[in-house]
Amino acid sequence: MWRRSKHACLRATQFAKLLFSPHLADSSYLHISTGLHLPVLLSADVQSTCNAGESTGIRIVCGVYMNWKRPLNQQFWKHWQRGLATSPGATKVFRDPRFAKLEESDMQHFQEIVGDKGVIVDSSELEVANTDWMNKYHGQSQLLLRPQTTQQVAEILKFCNSRCLAVVPQGGNTGLVGGSVPVFDEIILNLGAMKSILSFDEVSGILVCEAGCILENLDTFVGTKGFTMPLDLGAKGSCQIGGNVSTNAGGLRLLRYGSLHGNVLGLEVVLANGTVVDMLGTLRKDNTGYDLKQLFIGGEGTLGVVTKVSILTPPKLASTNVAFLACEDYESCQNALKEAKKQLGEILSAFEFIDRPALDMALCHLEGTRDPLPSKHNFYLLVETTGSNEAHDKEKLDAFLEAGMELGYFVDGTVAQDSTQAGSFWEIREGISEALVKAGAVYKYDLSVPIKSFYRIVEDLRAQLGNAAVVVAYGHLGDGNVHLNVSAPKYDEQLLAKIEPFVYEWTAACKGSVSAEHGLGFMKPHALHYSKSEEAIHLMEGFKKLLDPKGILNPYKVLPACAATSTCFVSV
Ligand code: FAD
Ligand code: MLT
Ligand code: ZN
Repeated sequence: MWRRSKHACLRATQFAKLLFSPHLADSSYLHISTGLHLPVLLSADVQSTCNAGESTGIRIVCGVYMNWKRPLNQQFWKHWQRGLATSPGATKVFRDPRFAKLEESDMQHFQEIVGDKGVIVDSSELEVANTDWMNKYHGQSQLLLRPQTTQQVAEILKFCNSRCLAVVPQGGNTGLVGGSVPVFDEIILNLGAMKSILSFDEVSGILVCEAGCILENLDTFVGTKGFTMPLDLGAKGSCQIGGNVSTNAGGLRLLRYGSLHGNVLGLEVVLANGTVVDMLGTLRKDNTGYDLKQLFIGGEGTLGVVTKVSILTPPKLASTNVAFLACEDYESCQNALKEAKKQLGEILSAFEFIDRPALDMALCHLEGTRDPLPSKHNFYLLVETTGSNEAHDKEKLDAFLEAGMELGYFVDGTVAQDSTQAGSFWEIREGISEALVKAGAVYKYDLSVPIKSFYRIVEDLRAQLGNAAVVVAYGHLGDGNVHLNVSAPKYDEQLLAKIEPFVYEWTAACKGSVSAEHGLGFMKPHALHYSKSEEAIHLMEGFKKLLDPKGILNPYKVLPACAATSTCFVSV
């Protein structure tokens, strides 16, 4: 049961003061004038409440616990979160006091499970693992574990669950929403040492491997067998297949090969209590009961740790062409997409969009890049074809380019003459994220919107921000996925207040998604309701509770109820 030492009846303003007050050091119990009864635990030792599965209270809002069985009034919840949510760069959050702190005896136990090599306490290694790719989210973990087998993962989780030690699963740490790094002192469970290829079927193209395999290495491996990975992204040199699966990464080939929900045929997953769930099928068709693996594809490490993956790889085709095209208006980009689908059909493998500020960002910050075209234009398209017959593909591409030029969709363009030139076009497109990080602070929005609205959000946000920041846009136009980025010299509360909830409300108004492919992580749990109904969120919370009753897996992430602590400013 919760410890409740005091009761207080507070008005909203007093409540706000309480949230912002650094002086509170005792357990309190709030009765807010909305009629909500929220027990507030501010620094009490509440280890005993860890058995959340059996107890009634579980979740926290800045140390405010609510009842799983009696969900908080949703309207209040939304408004409160909207009001307080802020950039993680500026947010100070409250550590969930249900989680235990590491003790010497824990370290000994971990050493017994993974050996000396698997227990990392070196400060420089920890600093890297505590910091995300954008250098925006910083955790304070004192322990990084590198298991080598599923059994070790299972033993680690079983122990952490029994001790109520929080854990953040980590792959290549290239995630863009702060999901892969601890928020506080969560133990980092890095899968990088589990990198064996287990089997490859050269007829079906089905690959089975461990979760820590790096995507590019897998592509090289299947490439030697005449196949290719069904996904490709700028982070391929570092990201791991387990991370890709856990984020349901989209990337540059989704247009052609579809999402991981279709390509992943099976998974092995370890649950929070250490149970190993074998769903590692290699069948294209399997309708025996619920397709449980789908829950973990895009689960962002909150429901289980992916340890093995079975994935369908398509044949690697001999002929690839890449064109870099310029358009003067967005309407023409849309028309070009329509034409590409019509003319290129089955050989179209990517249709990427870059606006001029995004291109400038890349040219300015990425060494060795140069503008592929002699004069400046407003929009660019990177169109790739992949097929099995070079002459046939060229013929199709030429027909598309001619039609596009004649119809006035493109005003200029060039087709890569060799793989080096094609690589230089891709370098620009894939390097924009890195260029943005080099340029300073970046607010990233990864939206799915109807294609006709793809660029309107960019223009509207520019109008909203004026000269306050640079707005750049790029993305997977073929999938309706715009990467809307705001670049500024530093993170700034006032700037953020102009961006959010503007962007989220705009997206909701056109029935878009606030996360097309990057996930919610630590950045966006408060925005989930813009894209999902209350009922759907409630169901998600039910799955979380079922699979991880103590909430030890990647806390403060994905679900608003789990992340509520990230929406307040109380520092600990
Ligand atoms: P991490 O970043 O380590 O983790 C990501 C999330 O998955 C975290 O929540 C983590 O807890 C969880 N996780 C990791 N491994 C496991 C596991 N084994 N079991 C359970 N949970 C796990 N994304 C796209 O969708 N499309 C793109 O085109 C794209 N391009 C990118 C380009 C660049 C330059 C960068 C830096 C990132 C890009 N991303 C893109 C973001 C993308 O999410 C990641 O690159 C990738 O999928 C994450 O893999 P990772 O191994 O780095 O996972
Ligand atoms: C991309 O498409 O380049 C990635 O999703 C990364 C990003 O959005 O910056
Ligand atoms: Zn992307």
